[in-house]
Amino acid sequence: MDRVMLYYWTFFLILTGAVRYGHCNIKCYSCSSQEDPQCRNPEGKLETRKCNEEAMMQLKSFAEKIDARYAAIFDVELRTAERLPLSCMKQVTMVRGTEHIIRGCQLNSGHPDICIVVQNESNRQNIGNVTHCSLCHSDACNSAFTIRPFETTVMLISLLAQRIMF
Ligand SMILES: *[C@@H]1O[C@H](CO)[C@@H](O)[C@H](O)[C@H]1NC(C)=O
Ligand SMILES: *[C@@H]1O[C@H](CO)[C@@H](O)[C@H](O)[C@H]1NC(C)=O
Repeated sequence: MDRVMLYYWTFFLILTGAVRYGHCNIKCYSCSSQEDPQCRNPEGKLETRKCNEEAMMQLKSFAEKIDARYAAIFDVELRTAERLPLSCMKQVTMVRGTEHIIRGCQLNSGHPDICIVVQNESNRQNIGNVTHCSLCHSDACNSAFTIRPFETTVMLISLLAQRIMF
């Protein structure tokens, strides 16, 4: 890789990295299909909310309403939440034939990933079948399934710029 390309990709990585990890006040859709049917397809219908501890507690309460056993998984480490990057979460769970969708704010850096824990525990405790679970890292990104609009856009612009410039 020549020097210019190296600088170019370094810039790209810093830019995407800064947005992913420096974005403290990310906004997410925060809703439950049990409480609001529009949560199934919230884009343009529901407001997003700014992520903070309170928003994370709200996601926990949505999960608890699907099954009380989710409370332990979604329990928030309040001491660390302020300093950790937050992301948007979407979970789709089939419970005895009913589909429940929850969306909200979640810590970005769980070990292991909360979705792995949610999927494992849902199976193990027979809470329900998790048909989708994902975290994403840009404003309102938890509207659809796994689209990451910001990263995709930056990537496309970067590739385009590269073709034009070099
Ligand atoms: C999960 O899916 C299996 C297989 O389709 C089904 O037998 C089971 O009842 C489901 N569990 C719940 C809690 O809905
Ligand atoms: C989840 O389950 C898989 C397979 O059942 C296992 O390998 C993995 O260690 C589990 N992960 C967690 C975090 O429980």
